[in-house]
Amino acid sequence: MAGTRGLVIAVDGPASSGKSTTARLVAQRLGYMHVDTGAMYRAVALKMLRDGIELTDNDRVMKLLRSTEVSQIEKDSQARILLDGEDVTDEIRSPEVSLWVGPVSEDYRVREHLVEWQRRLGRQGGVVLDGRDIGTVVFPDADLKIFMKADVRTRAKRRRKEMMGRGIVQTLEEVESAIETRDTRDSSREHSPLRKADDAIELDTTHLTIGDQVQRVLELAKKILATPLTE
Ligand code: DC
Repeated sequence: MAGTRGLVIAVDGPASSGKSTTARLVAQRLGYMHVDTGAMYRAVALKMLRDGIELTDNDRVMKLLRSTEVSQIEKDSQARILLDGEDVTDEIRSPEVSLWVGPVSEDYRVREHLVEWQRRLGRQGGVVLDGRDIGTVVFPDADLKIFMKADVRTRAKRRRKEMMGRGIVQTLEEVESAIETRDTRDSSREHSPLRKADDAIELDTTHLTIGDQVQRVLELAKKILATPLTE
């Protein structure tokens, strides 16, 4: 896929493995677009919660998917998520949305729609997408695939710190247990379960700083960009 245009970089991994932050910073450094696909699932889940739409109500689910617009902008060096033009960046990280996004992201109609949006955004290249199924389903031909992981205690500490920054206080045990539940759910679901693509490069971030993670991914990307094309 690489050529004169930019690369498609897929960053997958479990909850709180550092995917989104790494993907955003790598995109910034390369002058690429960053697509946080988890935020897209969260925005759809938030809209369903607000509108009181059940997954069993096929007509309303389809109508919502067809009429919803989720986009991402950069403001003060932070990624902001817009749902039909409204900034919902903080709301999509609430415990309610975190609970509800599980069943929503398991729904094949939702997945089909969001995968289509993601492909449209990434088609031109010059993009870093992070999620669970980017290297396996959304862009199986991505130029570079990274699978990030970290031990559950480390991820729980990161997540708790991030939540406290938003005024949400939970014990480390509570956060860890919620992450374990999501890990199981993400890996065992029927549609597009979380798994490492065979050709993905594994990056264990347990003992890495954000700067290290970004550096590793940039080195891999630059190596690909420096490789001459063979016809
Ligand atoms: O990365 P996150 O925690 O913001 O993701 C929110 C939820 O969306 C999580 O339960 C997994 C799901 N998700 C998914 O199924 N596929 C993706 N590409 C991204 C996220």
